[in-house]
Amino acid sequence: MKVNFREFMNFRRKVYLDNNATTQIDRRVAKVIKSFVKHYGNPSSQHSLGKYTRSRVETARQQVSKLIHAEPEEIVFTSGGTEANNTVLKGVAGLLKEKGNHIITSKIEHPSVIESGEYLEKEGFRMTYLSVNTDGEIDLNELENAIDEKTILISIMIANNETGTVQDIKRIAEIAHRRNILLHTDAVQAVGKIPIDVKSMDVDFLAFSSHKIYGPKGSGAVYIKNRETLENLIHGGHQESLLRGGTENTIGIIGFGEAARIIMEEGKEYNEEIKELRSLFYNSIKEFYPEVRINGPSTGGIPGTINLLFPGTDNKKIIALLDYYGISASAGSACSADGEKPSHVLKAIGLSDKDAGSSVRFSIGKFNNRKDIKYSAKKLKKVLNDKTGLQYITPLAMDESIILNENYLLADIRFGFQRIINKPIAKAVLINRFKLDEYFKEIPKSKNIILICEHGFDAAATGYKLKKKGFSNVEILLGGYRSWKAAHPDLFRKYVTVGE
Ligand SMILES: Cc1ncc(COP(=O)(O)O)c(C=O)c1O
Repeated sequence: MKVNFREFMNFRRKVYLDNNATTQIDRRVAKVIKSFVKHYGNPSSQHSLGKYTRSRVETARQQVSKLIHAEPEEIVFTSGGTEANNTVLKGVAGLLKEKGNHIITSKIEHPSVIESGEYLEKEGFRMTYLSVNTDGEIDLNELENAIDEKTILISIMIANNETGTVQDIKRIAEIAHRRNILLHTDAVQAVGKIPIDVKSMDVDFLAFSSHKIYGPKGSGAVYIKNRETLENLIHGGHQESLLRGGTENTIGIIGFGEAARIIMEEGKEYNEEIKELRSLFYNSIKEFYPEVRINGPSTGGIPGTINLLFPGTDNKKIIALLDYYGISASAGSACSADGEKPSHVLKAIGLSDKDAGSSVRFSIGKFNNRKDIKYSAKKLKKVLNDKTGLQYITPLAMDESIILNENYLLADIRFGFQRIINKPIAKAVLINRFKLDEYFKEIPKSKNIILICEHGFDAAATGYKLKKKGFSNVEILLGGYRSWKAAHPDLFRKYVTVGE
């Protein structure tokens, strides 16, 4: 791919379109945390220092409960959505195991639900994973038919993190409660994006998380209608009304409270803007790439999420190249993005492995604007037109896991004078690009090779030559050595300039 000078200079521009993975912390949340940090009293202590912290934690509980129309005493703080989901599935299973051993969920749940289910299966529980249609919706008849006399819990997410599909949770609640079954919902992607009211939705449990609503990471909560319906997983502390022992993550909780307050007041307005940005993005892409398809619902769903299939492409390459242009997008959920397996959600809505591998999730947030969207669409066009068949790695991705990995060969193909100005990475092999045969005749064809040139402009030609010689795993360092140095000044000092 040809990269011109202006684009090269632009590489530091950042457009964050991965808001379902996490969100940038709101400045007001950061401010509240900063001013609270000095208050170190333990909220369980009886003295005034402790009582002050307790009052702040309880204020946060009120703020968080308001967001989902719950009562403060129905909120249990956790370390996030994952713990909240684990708490409900394992807690209900533990308490009600005499009553029944059957739990119903869906194939598109977050791994914290699916893998809790897999754990419970090993403990003798029976799990039913409901299928979904091409929009990602469960079939309510299938749900009804799956229920039997041993069913103790139904766990269906409100909004899916990969496709944005929203389930009809009220009708699911009617079905569950008609049969006297408890209903849990993972609302991590729904809270703050669509109205959530635990009372009118009539759910028994609801999981949500701070870092998806511009709050700090490592903080979340679970709404529990009736504390008699589950057992606690963590023992050894009286905190959170005995349901979650351990001194509270006070900083995280207070940040979560402020994030909840802000999104409660402002969310409605900016979610409308986010929806418009999503349409703008899709319509712009459709103009230059008419084959593009939306995975999941084409209208509706949570605002901001759009999962796009670019038939015949490689999503890893698209994501790497977008990253090079400062645009963050994702394939699958952040928790599984490192795994090579195709997204279980895209598979469940009917995509082949190949199409799942050609799909990219963009999730727009409140800090994005029209300029970001236009820039991203423009760069996406460039990325999709890349016909070289070469693989790329971003400067950020070339970290210690690659540098120290014996399976990778770092091939420095810069000119001699360039290596004098910027010394090579100690582990890199120095290769004269005009004498490739001399070096590469000894190298197995399957070796992972990363080609490093000075600016990322001229490694493509060498990459082509190696491909023609039968090397299949050739990656080009985007932006070259200069960009890597800018992206990793610490690694540059560690692996390049040490001992000078
Ligand atoms: C739908 C859903 N559930 C649960 C989680 C886990 O939340 P946390 O990161 O707070 O553990 C996520 C995070 O991506 C999610 O998207």
